[in-house]
Amino acid sequence: MNYLEFKNGDKMPALGLGTWKSESGEVYEVIRMAIGIGYRHFDCAAIYGNEAEIGQAFADAFAAGDVKREDVWITSKLWNSYHLKQDVSVGFERTLNDLKLDYLDLYLMHWPLALKPGVGFPKTSDLFISLDEAPLDETWDEMEKIHESGRIKHLGVSNFNSRNLDLLMSAAGVLPEMNQVEMHPFLPQHKLVNYCWDNAMHMTAYSPLGSGDRPGDRIKSDEPKLMEHDIVKSISETHNITPAQVLLAWQVNRGVAVIPKSVNEGRLKQNLEAAEIVLTEDEMDRLNNISIHFRYIDGSIWTIEGSPYTMDDLWEEE
Ligand code: A2P
Repeated sequence: MNYLEFKNGDKMPALGLGTWKSESGEVYEVIRMAIGIGYRHFDCAAIYGNEAEIGQAFADAFAAGDVKREDVWITSKLWNSYHLKQDVSVGFERTLNDLKLDYLDLYLMHWPLALKPGVGFPKTSDLFISLDEAPLDETWDEMEKIHESGRIKHLGVSNFNSRNLDLLMSAAGVLPEMNQVEMHPFLPQHKLVNYCWDNAMHMTAYSPLGSGDRPGDRIKSDEPKLMEHDIVKSISETHNITPAQVLLAWQVNRGVAVIPKSVNEGRLKQNLEAAEIVLTEDEMDRLNNISIHFRYIDGSIWTIEGSPYTMDDLWEEE
């Protein structure tokens, strides 16, 4: 396994298990199975609605001696409805309690935008809070306080562009060490990756396989399919591996972490094995330069009419 090393020497396995869309009722078994297969990095979030069940799986795996707490890397994320100063610790405590842990390896601000307390996904614009009312650096400041207490080992963000990162870093005491964003060969994020690396931040790729199982109303019928792209298919044939493994190996080979989601034993195994596959420079180049540009998680749920947020606030398309 490749690892991403942090400033203090901590190491995060480059390939982890994504848990978005892993349903309650099945995610317990998935986590136990994944630990058995050898996964040592788990990516969670309060908004996925499954942290309590995941926490039970961790607790049982630790109790059974399947793995030790210190040998797994666990990430979670602060939901947008906990951005106000007084709410950050509430969101954190809830996650820590649900996951049945006494510390997190990494805690991310999930999105650079705020929602009113109690809101999951806003249907109306009055459920948003603007960044004037809930500045990102104030939310971050509260996250820093928890970090200082030792219950978060590393702090980071998700879905941040370089403008938001600049803003945060200019006010931060503890600098973000991770930015988790959508990345795959249709959205390689070359500029953002270089920006983060220049600023001593690692990157994690979400939706590396295109998240084909996301809610139907967020799927466009004519969207391009990563696993069916000719270049991806031809490299998979050369190595006698699956297209999914090509997509995951590409991420690990370029030095970013990747968190494919699966609930299927065979696919869990093949995804973990992909972290060991070495692609040639020419194959990397071909994957780096695919001409299709496509964002699967387009952020349109945050820009409904009347919302204080625009696409321009969120993304810097390359
Ligand atoms: P499943 O959970 O049934 O394995 P993403 O990680 O980009 O969000 O994509 C997750 C989707 O990709 C899920 O539908 C998942 O289905 C599917 N998936 C995960 N691993 C593979 C694989 N190796 N080959 C094909 N599909 C996969």
